[in-house]
Amino acid sequence: GRRLPLIAGNWKMNLDHLQAVALVQKLHWALKDAKHEAGTVELAVFPPFTDIRTVQTLLDADKIPFSLGAQDLSAHDSGAYTGEVSGQFLAKLDCRYVIIGHSERRAYHHESDEVVAAKVQAALRHGLVPVICVGETAEDLEEHGASAVPVRQLTAALNGVAAGADIVVAYEPVWAIGSGQAATPEQAQDVCAKLREVTAAAIGGDAADRTRILYGGSVKSGNIAGFMREPDVDGALVGGASLVVDEFAAIVRYQK
Ligand code: G3H
Repeated sequence: GRRLPLIAGNWKMNLDHLQAVALVQKLHWALKDAKHEAGTVELAVFPPFTDIRTVQTLLDADKIPFSLGAQDLSAHDSGAYTGEVSGQFLAKLDCRYVIIGHSERRAYHHESDEVVAAKVQAALRHGLVPVICVGETAEDLEEHGASAVPVRQLTAALNGVAAGADIVVAYEPVWAIGSGQAATPEQAQDVCAKLREVTAAAIGGDAADRTRILYGGSVKSGNIAGFMREPDVDGALVGGASLVVDEFAAIVRYQK
């Protein structure tokens, strides 16, 4: 295919910086000679902010070919915003990616579509690739079907984004996150195809063709292959299973 698959591990609020070192080292060992080394899949980890400097140093020192990202950033670049983290600091720590609009931030920190759009702009200003998360709740699914809310969220997030921008989209049905009940590959494909249309309308067809669209929500070693067989699913955003070395390594080693 024309898109490099991306397997992303979102650690959420787990692992201190010492535990982060242990996980990255074990994962690197488990994946020695795996295909990410051969450049056929990209692996990215998203540690808590307090771990990022340590993980950056380890990846660099041991020449570990994982990409690095953060789980959030501020919409602002600097100034009187106590407790916030600027995209420019993340870029300086070699973060390539930043997750934006995860359903947990939308739910627990009341991040609106407007806030998400402002954070996407902040990421792009600093050369970070936003991993824009969208997804419907169980209630949305019942009321509007699967795609209406994700389509609205992505349309809003891409408002004002320039043609050709480098972005990643993650479709995460809220009802599938941490529930053990993943969407089916067909359900994921259907919504991801619609999200690619939204992406094409916003940033152009060529850019949409290059954009990785991930599925997230109870991805495990046992169900990854089914998702990866779908034409518009280009990888996975993995939560719980990204904390378990053998599970995450098996997901990265998926066979179609
Ligand atoms: O960002 C990751 C998702 O929220 C999925 O989490 O794999 O634990 O269901 P999960």
